[in-house]
Amino acid sequence: MELAGLSLIKLTKDTIIKPFDCGDEDLNDFLVSKAKDYQRELLAVTYILENEERTIAFFSIFNDSLRVQEIGFASKSAFKRFLSKLVSHPKRHLEYFPALKIGRLGVCNTTKKAGLGTLIINFIINLAIDQNTHCACKLITVDAYDQSLGFYEKKGFTYFTETDKGKDTRQMYLDLTPIINASLEEQVAG
Ligand SMILES: CC(C)(COP(=O)(O)OP(=O)(O)OC[C@H]1O[C@@H](n2cnc3c(N)ncnc32)[C@H](O)[C@@H]1OP(=O)(O)O)[C@@H](O)C(=O)NCCC(=O)NCCS
Repeated sequence: MELAGLSLIKLTKDTIIKPFDCGDEDLNDFLVSKAKDYQRELLAVTYILENEERTIAFFSIFNDSLRVQEIGFASKSAFKRFLSKLVSHPKRHLEYFPALKIGRLGVCNTTKKAGLGTLIINFIINLAIDQNTHCACKLITVDAYDQSLGFYEKKGFTYFTETDKGKDTRQMYLDLTPIINASLEEQVAG
């Protein structure tokens, strides 16, 4: 993918990682010292958006299985409300939701708020739509950093629960079902 001088590449063992600073030391460190190990061990695939001199953004994704019992709902009724929002017919024994997880996402300090985070989320949604033609995936999930909550809210993500409010990270999700249904309808109409 080319975007006005930017290239999106998938990390390989031979990739030379260019300088990067998104303002978060853990994310910076992951890209430089851990991403290749995760890739080799099949724990996360990392994509890099770069220009000739610098890494502009990166993200790491992996398959997830969201165990609903582990979310920590405040009450049984909150749990039931959550389930009825996600599945049209009550499935009492539903324990897991197949998901694609955004493990890490960072945009460099000098290009924040220029639409690159949005571009990346759209890219991930398209990957998930494609993945659904082979293997079911219902949610995109993220443990969102406190400072990024507003960004994910704007991208349509929802909180699983209010019990993690005020914590350093909050569990959020995007339901792919309406997105995929809309894209199927478009294909039929087109
Ligand atoms: C969070 C992050 C990925 C957003 O990337 P970005 O390229 O700046 O996002 P975009 O430019 O696509 O922004 C999309 C919208 O979200 C808003 N937004 C972006 N960052 C935001 C933030 N931190 N809080 C609230 N809103 C934010 C933008 O203003 C924009 O709003 P608009 O559509 O009304 O114009 C980036 O700020 C970042 O790397 N932060 C540091 C690392 C981090 O927190 N990563 C998340 C790990 S879970």
